[in-house]
Amino acid sequence: MVTRDDDLFAQVLHHRIRDLQPGDPIPASIDLASTYLLPGTPSTHHQYGRWTNPVWDELEAALGLLENAEVVIFPSGMAAIASVLLTHLHTGDRFLLPSDGYYTTRILAEKYLVPNGVEIELCATRDYAARDFAGFRLVWIETPSNPGLDLCDLQDVVARAHAAGAIVVADNTTLTPLGQRPLDLGADVIISADTKAIGGHSDVVFGHVASRNAEIMTAVRDWRKFVGAIPGPFESWLILRSLESFEVRFDRMCTSALVIAERLEQHPAVAAVKYPGLASHTDHELAQRQMTRFGSVIGVTFADAATAERFINDTPYIVPSTSFGGTHTSAERRARWGDAVADGYVRLSIGCEPTEALWSAMKGVLDSLA
Ligand SMILES: Cc1ncc(COP(=O)(O)O)c(C=O)c1O
Repeated sequence: MVTRDDDLFAQVLHHRIRDLQPGDPIPASIDLASTYLLPGTPSTHHQYGRWTNPVWDELEAALGLLENAEVVIFPSGMAAIASVLLTHLHTGDRFLLPSDGYYTTRILAEKYLVPNGVEIELCATRDYAARDFAGFRLVWIETPSNPGLDLCDLQDVVARAHAAGAIVVADNTTLTPLGQRPLDLGADVIISADTKAIGGHSDVVFGHVASRNAEIMTAVRDWRKFVGAIPGPFESWLILRSLESFEVRFDRMCTSALVIAERLEQHPAVAAVKYPGLASHTDHELAQRQMTRFGSVIGVTFADAATAERFINDTPYIVPSTSFGGTHTSAERRARWGDAVADGYVRLSIGCEPTEALWSAMKGVLDSLA
């Protein structure tokens, strides 16, 4: 059976090729121009490099197909987040964001929104279920939360937040559109740090905003144009190139993650495993309902920091590094950044290594820790 995601991804791979003429290059070209030939009254699409770029057009069309929405690209996930927050929150507005989500979003809000009269409130992702959204201008969702991997019910939160008059934005970085589609569940906007699985090769920092609301997208596109937070043509091209293998990479990563999460849970050296795909996850039923894949990130808790560090540093196919979603399996103790997780909590990002080779490397170290 061909799923909708299968069909969409096939279109992502082929859409530009349909319009090629004999002799045209198959891949998109990189256009480095900062300015374009522009005689007389300006009427061409490309005029100046801060406003448009042919590679941006290619990438926004491809990501737009994938998201089934309009897309504006940015030079980082944070630039994408800032474009939405700083265009939609003003003096007197109230902003709800997760206390357990990606910490830099909170720092951005505290440093640049609060001094401008925006009131922020924090709520743990699981507590969104009981939260009253009355009076909020904007509600931010991150499910699964990063790094704790807690969930909230997107459809329920969106419906209640909309009834209260709020705009709903979801950070969909961890799952990507191939793992979860917040826009289909009613969210107004998604942001994605494409630095993670969509870029996937640990060689480019990037982001995008997607929405089916033209007014929101005009505000976001204008922000990029006038603030000048624009992605470089080469970085845009790298993401376009990465997109070609994204579905294959993500499939391998999510498939391996489920196998490895199940085995980690059985291993005596491991104190606890958190992964939405496991029956033991508190919100596994919700995960099955709202996610199409369970993702590539696993939360693994060891007895203490020292044991966790040995697992991270001694496993041959684990790269000790921050970030996730790359082709190489990577891991870090999130307590080292001050996240509210146990000292022995490891965020493990499963990469594209053959599953059994990866598990065998992990098991060798785990057996020595048990
Ligand atoms: C969930 C999430 N959102 C946003 C970001 C920010 O992305 P970037 O580092 O590309 O600015 C990150 C980065 O780690 C992230 O994990």
